[in-house]
Amino acid sequence: MNKMKFLRESIKNLKTVGTVTPSSRFLCQAMLKGIDFSKATLIVELGAGNGVLTRHILKKMRPDARLLTFEVQANFCELLRKIDDDRLVVIEDSAEYIADYLREFDREKADHIISAIPFVILPKDLAKSIVSTCSNHLAPDGRYAQVHYSTILKSMYEEVFPKVKINFTPLNIPPAFVFHCSN
Ligand SMILES: C[S@@+](CC[C@H](N)C(=O)[O-])C[C@H]1O[C@@H](n2cnc3c(N)ncnc32)[C@H](O)[C@@H]1O
Repeated sequence: MNKMKFLRESIKNLKTVGTVTPSSRFLCQAMLKGIDFSKATLIVELGAGNGVLTRHILKKMRPDARLLTFEVQANFCELLRKIDDDRLVVIEDSAEYIADYLREFDREKADHIISAIPFVILPKDLAKSIVSTCSNHLAPDGRYAQVHYSTILKSMYEEVFPKVKINFTPLNIPPAFVFHCSN
């Protein structure tokens, strides 16, 4: 999907997509910075959109690892299913059900969770409940990486995760913040 199509899809579904351009290569790199892919066998991505970040994650993953990618928009899921990689599992469902899907893969916890869900525009309770579920289902050495376009939700992440570090990435439209969280 090119940038114009992403823009059209985003405008149609602004309440769930939360931005009008896909993440830049610089933002994708910033999201994955510091994540140790060498031992990870199961990674979760939330809010994959057109798959721009999905492709960066797959490039870094071990050949025997799996990526569970959650996306609620059917049109985006159609595009994600076109990514030709056996390690990718596209889940057309909301991130709030992450525990159920992990169980299907005989796992209680993901090694890492990488999210672009626009929690700022979701109901507050739902946002906090998804982030708390992610914390509960994150491996002890795991990283939770989240992109936002402001730091307005900083305190929510600090209530859930003992460690929260925020980095700024100017080379994106709009400029973005990456929250690196761990337990
Ligand atoms: C800002 S876009 C990110 C797209 C892409 N990952 C990127 O970085 O360019 C956020 C995506 O999250 C999806 N989304 C919103 N709520 C969701 C939920 N509860 N579960 C899974 N995906 C969700 C939206 O449909 C949208 O595609």
